[in-house]
Amino acid sequence: MKRSRIVGSGSYVPKMVLTNFDLESMVNTSDEWIIERTGIRERRIAGKDEAASDLAYEASQRALKSSGIKAKDIDLIILATTTPDMVFPSTACLLQDRLNAKKAVAFDVSAACSGFIYSLSVADQFIKEGIYKTALVVGSEVLSRITDWNDRATCILFGDGAGAVVLQASSDRRGIISVHLHSDGALKDLLYIPGGGSRNPASKKTIEKGLHYIKMRGNETFKVAVRKLEEVALEAINSNNLKPSDIDLFIPHQANLRIIQAIAKRLNLSMDKVLVNIDRYGNTSAASIPIALDEAVSEGRLKEGDLILMEAFGGGLTWASALLRW
Ligand code: ACO
Repeated sequence: MKRSRIVGSGSYVPKMVLTNFDLESMVNTSDEWIIERTGIRERRIAGKDEAASDLAYEASQRALKSSGIKAKDIDLIILATTTPDMVFPSTACLLQDRLNAKKAVAFDVSAACSGFIYSLSVADQFIKEGIYKTALVVGSEVLSRITDWNDRATCILFGDGAGAVVLQASSDRRGIISVHLHSDGALKDLLYIPGGGSRNPASKKTIEKGLHYIKMRGNETFKVAVRKLEEVALEAINSNNLKPSDIDLFIPHQANLRIIQAIAKRLNLSMDKVLVNIDRYGNTSAASIPIALDEAVSEGRLKEGDLILMEAFGGGLTWASALLRW
């Protein structure tokens, strides 16, 4: 059976570090509160001239280098983001140009924090069907541009960064085993950006009202996230006749350490099987899983044959899991 396999990974985070102590001087919060409620200590903030395609380019170059594949050989580029450089063209097309990946088909996927797994799923289908041989899948976010730096309930959570993987067809047991995607638009009001689209186009009024910033009902989102993430993790495990104890590495979306711990507990997974880097990067939305995966690779935490479970949850609402044999 043909599968698609990750043959290279890369990540990039901007240089500027914003600590909880820095936030203490911006809003009424404390390092202690942020660590206790979220697990975040610091996050990265893009420079003035850095947009999503720039972060994506750095991460992609690293992923290509680690895979040994040349940009000219990429057939497909899928980029997940909620912070595109501009409304159009897609950030994937901008990345294609920067990489000089002339033959690639390029498009963006919008699924908020679940965007990377959604994108992985699309690339997986194309590869499994034999339509394309080589795909670059990227998550890139400059959330600092859509964060209300006066809203202490959200500004403490987000960070900027990008991660990328190169996928190729594989005929052995390694690769993506299954992907499970879900959406529930009825819960759209838990997490959204009301302004800047065709509903409330950007105007002086939308700017004054701060409609171009992330709005989140954090506590309700938290509860739905824990429930849906447990369900979608078990869906991946059960549909492959596995047990949670078969998972070698769990790579959850990094939204809140308490969410990650709650899921690990429900799955009876010890935290040493869980990749956590939220303390250093905060929530980087679609970039969080590929950044974490790349970290696992560079730290030597993965060996051939390991079973990896990834899962994510985000605005839409959307949620998803992917099971891979490394
Ligand atoms: N510092 C100090 N106090 C704060 C802060 C802060 N930064 N933020 C909120 N508070 C206060 C609140 O005002 C409230 O005070 P009150 O009790 O006097 O009213 C109190 O802390 C508790 O507030 P809650 O919102 O109930 O706090 P909670 O424990 O839920 O933590 C948090 C908030 C961290 C936002 C949490 O709800 C969360 O992580 N939610 C999920 C986020 C998520 O997963 N999003 C999905 C992905 S993001 C995407 O798709 C882009």
